Amino acid sequence: MAQIDHIGIAVKSLAAAKAIYVKLGLSVSPEETVEQEQVRLVMVPLGESRLELLEATSENSTIAKFIAKRGEGLHHVCLRVPDLRGAVECLKKDGVRLVSEEIRTGAGGHKYVFVHPASAGGVLLELVQA
Ligand code: CO
Repeated sequence: MAQIDHIGIAVKSLAAAKAIYVKLGLSVSPEETVEQEQVRLVMVPLGESRLELLEATSENSTIAKFIAKRGEGLHHVCLRVPDLRGAVECLKKDGVRLVSEEIRTGAGGHKYVFVHPASAGGVLLELVQA
């Protein structure tokens, strides 16, 4: 069964953005940099799910471009799926538009892919392997 793994929020400053969650008494993970996405992030665990706060580390980062165009805010929703490879095959066969054709490997070794908002009701959808 698929679940919401996390919700990604694009922010100008992690330090400023995480303050509200600290005030709410939530725990915030240490900052982590993901070189290939040119972002720095923190995670805010919320039961089965998490918030992912994303700050650009370069002007070329997709997060920097997103903020320049639309301002800070909701960037993507991430679903954890039991069979990522199977899901991607199925989506491709149905002509669903993916941001990258290949499944990528993240910093912690997790596998992920992004579905283009044009194919997901205007929402950037990240899929990760459970
Ligand atoms: Co994400």
